[in-house]
Amino acid sequence: MFRNISDYCTTYLHNKQVSFLTYFEYAKSTDLFLHSSMESIYLCPVCKQQLEQVNKSFICSQKHTYDISREGYVNFLLANQKKTKDPGDSKLMVDGRQFFLDQGYYDPLAKEINKIILPLVKKSKTKNFNILDVGCGTGFYSGKLQESLKLGTQAQHSTRASKPSAPSAHLWGIDISKPAIQKAAKKYPDIHFSIGSNFHLPYLNESLDLIFSIFSPFDSKELFRVLKPGGKILLIRPAHNHLKELATLIYDKFQLQGNPLDLSESLGLSLLEKYQLGFEIHLKNNEDIMNLVSMTPYHWHLNEEKKALLAKTREFTTGTDFQISLYQKKSA
Ligand SMILES: C[S@@+](CC[C@H](N)C(=O)[O-])C[C@H]1O[C@@H](n2cnc3c(N)ncnc32)[C@H](O)[C@@H]1O
Ligand SMILES: [Zn+2]
Repeated sequence: MFRNISDYCTTYLHNKQVSFLTYFEYAKSTDLFLHSSMESIYLCPVCKQQLEQVNKSFICSQKHTYDISREGYVNFLLANQKKTKDPGDSKLMVDGRQFFLDQGYYDPLAKEINKIILPLVKKSKTKNFNILDVGCGTGFYSGKLQESLKLGTQAQHSTRASKPSAPSAHLWGIDISKPAIQKAAKKYPDIHFSIGSNFHLPYLNESLDLIFSIFSPFDSKELFRVLKPGGKILLIRPAHNHLKELATLIYDKFQLQGNPLDLSESLGLSLLEKYQLGFEIHLKNNEDIMNLVSMTPYHWHLNEEKKALLAKTREFTTGTDFQISLYQKKSA
């Protein structure tokens, strides 16, 4: 894998007899340009100054230093931002979610997210399009988005000889759970992951073009602060009938889920669209069933009888119900 342009250039020119110009055109039109000429949008959580990358660390003008870990993430979580020693999802929950998502059960949701975001990137006039996944967990949806952004640029390259018009997309992910970010950074080395709190985002004011949250807590004022004027927020929440059959099994009687959280339009956001997406999932073994349960709050409400019942269940079909809302920050 090539980490930068000169690395690629050397190898490419060595293997193939092409002119530098040909190589340059090629690199420009592929995801090799995904991270070139990129400015840091990180903000020092202590003094709120911009952080610059110096070798393997991010440093602010006051010399607060945040090292890039072996896996490639940065830890911005300050001790006073933690309510417990190991905040966020535990390793067990993270492993369960990753295993479940990797089976493809929620792929239709990932496709829907890509269907919304891709045209926004293509249409944008900005040079660098910054996308942030807040409460990103193991980075599953960012990873799927990155894949489709790459396919988009490659397709563009094969149909157009000249310079592509789409901006470079940069993906950022944040989560308070260390085991989640460790996994994410290892699996998706091209995405900028950090450990931090959604309530104290380590990004500069007005530095992001799009922010998305999938089932994660957030502070709307913080989202608003880091979003560029005209930028978008995509929220995915569980809607009323989400996992209805699973809930019925656990509680005997189905209780409607609470109202999915909405963002206040009074913040200076306009709601562009809001709709529901639902599809059925057929869980094909007990491990997948238990992993799904561990991803839900139902997990905390299981009594011994229900635990025994679930342990015996080999297959299960349940419906999903996601509320999808897209907001835009009003331009100044
Ligand atoms: C339901 S999971 C969703 C994970 C991911 N979005 C997905 O759908 O796969 C919620 C995530 O929010 C994270 N989280 C909880 N509180 C947080 C906070 N204050 N700041 C950042 N992340 C937080 C958890 O660690 C967990 O990974
Ligand atoms: Zn600082």
